[in-house]
Amino acid sequence: MLKYAMIGGGPGAFVGQVHRRALALNGQAKIVAGCFSRDLVKTRLLGAELEIDEDRLYATPEELARLEAGDIDFAVVVTSNEAHYSNVKTCLENGINVMCDKPFTHTSTQAQELVELARRKGLALGVSYTYAGYPMVRQMREMIRRGDIGEVRFINCEYPQGWLAEMLETTGHIQASWRADPKRSGGVLSLGDVGSHIEYLVPHVTGLRRTKLAARLDTLVEGRLLDDNGTILTEYEGGAKGMYWYSQAATGMVNGLRLRIFGSEGGLEWFQEDPDHLRHMPLNQAARTLVRGTTDLTPEAAAYSHTPPGHPEGWLLAFANIYSDFCATIIQGKEPNYPTGEDGLRGVRFIEACLESSHNNTSWIDLGDSES
Ligand SMILES: NC(=O)c1ccc[n+]([C@@H]2O[C@H](COP(=O)([O-])OP(=O)(O)OC[C@H]3O[C@@H](n4cnc5c(N)ncnc54)[C@H](O)[C@@H]3O)[C@@H](O)[C@H]2O)c1
Repeated sequence: MLKYAMIGGGPGAFVGQVHRRALALNGQAKIVAGCFSRDLVKTRLLGAELEIDEDRLYATPEELARLEAGDIDFAVVVTSNEAHYSNVKTCLENGINVMCDKPFTHTSTQAQELVELARRKGLALGVSYTYAGYPMVRQMREMIRRGDIGEVRFINCEYPQGWLAEMLETTGHIQASWRADPKRSGGVLSLGDVGSHIEYLVPHVTGLRRTKLAARLDTLVEGRLLDDNGTILTEYEGGAKGMYWYSQAATGMVNGLRLRIFGSEGGLEWFQEDPDHLRHMPLNQAARTLVRGTTDLTPEAAAYSHTPPGHPEGWLLAFANIYSDFCATIIQGKEPNYPTGEDGLRGVRFIEACLESSHNNTSWIDLGDSES
């Protein structure tokens, strides 16, 4: 059993408890220490609930990293975005492996520094792009890799949510307040929050490197300081084209992440709200629906599948799958099969390129080496 500490994820926080539940599902790691909040009283409150020894509950992440180094196998960073960089850095400096949530950092300079630090110290550094953990996403990836849809020509990915279709950030809503604050979120709102998932998912599934993009970031809700909607045109090595749409002001939508990929021999479609099904549309043949848990899946998809077909799996198990790969690297020294710091760095560069394009009248930006 590995031992881990959590930074962030305090009382009332959203995603920290999801990470804790996912890790508990795997049964590979036990939480033993925490700095869940900048307020020690809140950290102690949650620590008592989680039955963590009081002397392993810390006022600052720096103190945690210094005093827990050698006693924990990894740390999970699930603070609001502005604290990712300093918290990951302090853990790595103290020799602690880290899983950090996305978007990785505010700037690509910070991300690059963390990637190099982890490399120098030989530490595992992950970024939890959750959707890579779904079995049918893995299935899609393997089908493209083995040529089932031929040469990829067009990719359409969208992630609309509607929970920010009104000015929630002025109502004291915890999660909306920091996400809509330029200093805390990192200069973008929805591009970092949901657009980042599209950014990671497309090259992960297709294996294609983006070469160019043109982005338009919109603010649909009056009074908001940052983007809550955006459209991005993309081009890939080999000539494929793509179109992304992300939004948190798409009134009525919840978690409508949808990925459609069209090749010379067929198409594939996956929808996050129906995650156990994958639609395969072979050229000149009837479309078929592949079902998670059935026997005709690739070994990679089957390895991520836990319950029989018809008993739906979802978000929590996707997180758990990412953690089981992360733990396998720590325990057995396996090559990373989870989203890494390098992926996080590419994601931050993507955000910077989108901002540059949008500020320049949606001009095309050559991504050069930033995606390699
Ligand atoms: N992978 C996913 O699907 C996914 C989903 C939701 C959120 N996220 C990411 O997870 C992170 C957290 O998001 P959230 O919605 O849970 O935010 P949140 O505001 O609900 O929780 C953040 C927590 O971090 C704590 N915190 C902030 N700064 C801290 C510091 N310096 N030291 C210790 N604790 C600190 C806060 O007290 C709070 O408990 C964000 O980066 C977000 O983008 C990822």
